[in-house]
Amino acid sequence: MRYFLLIYALVVAVIVGIAGCRGSMSRKPPIEIFPDMDRQLKLRPQQPNAFFPNGISSQPPVPGTVRRSQPIQTAAGPVLPFEDAPVNTGRLPGTTNFVELNPLAVTGALLQRGRERFGIYCAPCHGPMGDGNGVTRKLGMSVVANLHDQRIVEMPDGEIFNTITHGKNLMQGYAAQIPVEDRWAIVAYVRVLQRSWLGTLEELPGDMRTALERQP
Ligand code: HEC
Repeated sequence: MRYFLLIYALVVAVIVGIAGCRGSMSRKPPIEIFPDMDRQLKLRPQQPNAFFPNGISSQPPVPGTVRRSQPIQTAAGPVLPFEDAPVNTGRLPGTTNFVELNPLAVTGALLQRGRERFGIYCAPCHGPMGDGNGVTRKLGMSVVANLHDQRIVEMPDGEIFNTITHGKNLMQGYAAQIPVEDRWAIVAYVRVLQRSWLGTLEELPGDMRTALERQP
């Protein structure tokens, strides 16, 4: 027991002696138990370094490096996916108001893409014409929204984008399945469906009108 106490006191004195000096104010450098952890052979960013021909330690990414996030090309210029911009949120920056118009340039290619994506992701429930008569209606889902409702026709583009992103009541969000640009392509295509639903015979060019009128 006597030896134990003696060794115990010695061990305590050694630990306090070594560890206690770390962090105390002294002009001498502290004791380094593992100096290779404190002093590593490494290049610091921005430090000059003679190893590389251009003489700096932080090298630029090699040509062809793929960025983690590609900018989205909007009508107003490129936007990165993490920015608080209408194209990412569907809302005016810093507010909860939805943007009125699609921030992407609406081209034929975008509408084609939207048509294809709508067919994959929305038509099963909302039907190919968006009237809410998709296959799930036949299987018993009775409350699928009709996208030609006055309320949805008058909705800002940003609100439809928001519904695709986060869902609404029974409809779940599709943010995980549909990338941002495709969501706006679908919004543009929903507008095409609504416009064609509201169109009248008088708006068609003459030859198409006569062809339609001849049909029984
Ligand atoms: C699994 C079925 C299902 C799919 C797939 C689906 N929806 Fe819906 N959607 C619904 C249902 C159900 C509602 C009605 C929700 C409610 O108000 O109860 C709805 C409502 C909506 C509304 C109206 C929201 C509102 O504010 O009332 C819009 C717009 C809409 N969907 C767009 C889309 C688009 C665009 C897609 C494709 C990306 C899509 N939905 C895919 C089932 C679906």
